[in-house]
Amino acid sequence: ERSSNVQTRPPVVTIMGHVDHGKTSLLDKIRETKVATGEAGGITQHIGAYHVKTDRGVITFLDTPGHAAFSAMRSRGAQATDIVVLVVAADDGMMPQTAEAIDHARAAGTPIIVAINKMDKPSADPDRVLNELTTKEVVSEEWGGDTPMARISAKTGEGIDELLEFISLQAELMELEAPLDGAAQGVVIESRLEKGRGPVVSVLVKKGTLKQGDLVLAGEHYGKVRAMTDENGQRIKSAGPSIPVEILGLPETPAAGSEFLVVTDEKKAREVADFRTNR
Ligand code: GTP
Ligand code: NA
Ligand code: MG
Repeated sequence: ERSSNVQTRPPVVTIMGHVDHGKTSLLDKIRETKVATGEAGGITQHIGAYHVKTDRGVITFLDTPGHAAFSAMRSRGAQATDIVVLVVAADDGMMPQTAEAIDHARAAGTPIIVAINKMDKPSADPDRVLNELTTKEVVSEEWGGDTPMARISAKTGEGIDELLEFISLQAELMELEAPLDGAAQGVVIESRLEKGRGPVVSVLVKKGTLKQGDLVLAGEHYGKVRAMTDENGQRIKSAGPSIPVEILGLPETPAAGSEFLVVTDEKKAREVADFRTNR
């Protein structure tokens, strides 16, 4: 009985915004870690996604590259995403990649929450940001529009609780659900070849539960999940909806944005993989 497995799932949030407006700093602050600064002793792995527990539930964040060259992948990221948090530096205002991110979010039909960042800076001018965003028809709730905007500082932590609150409220409105049981499906966030480990593939489960030992078809490649780790490098045996994990066991690195799914039949997996390779 499929419907009995359907449960509320955490929102998947992509942080977007112009170069250096503070996307990584914000993610780091939310997690209270120092991933970006590469501080000695830090064991946190960068798998391109993290989930955090807040008072109102779990939120999953995707960390997408900030540069225009990666806009293609970023647009795929928007499709794996329920909510876009648009980071705009209060001292810099709307910039080309801010506008681009708005367009990506719109194209994907993804609601936007604005984080006006760097409010700790003396040169911060949030009203200017609000003004500039209206030219892209992103209008603050404070001004009668429908876009929540939090004034934050990724440096001091100011406003971040309010931002998380806005995310949770938006997620509640969206009534996000996914079946917990059944064969997992999801999307490849990033993949890389690592010395001694082979292809390491970060995936985000969208429905079902991914388990160690599952046969996974991802893009043009398939293989059995040999091991799984969470974003803290902890070995785990399963991952449910909206949870990002790293998997080992694929023979090669599928492209970021590829769909993955668990299959039962190795022959079918090979056929689909071959078909995709030769397409
Ligand atoms: P890219 O990934 O390169 O696009 O940049 P990003 O958006 O991830 O920005 P990043 O977090 O790397 O921050 C860029 C610079 O702004 C760094 O020097 C940060 O320390 C600084 N910064 C980020 N957030 C804040 C903030 O709230 N206040 C201040 N004062 N500086 C900030
Ligand atoms: Na940067
Ligand atoms: Mg960054």
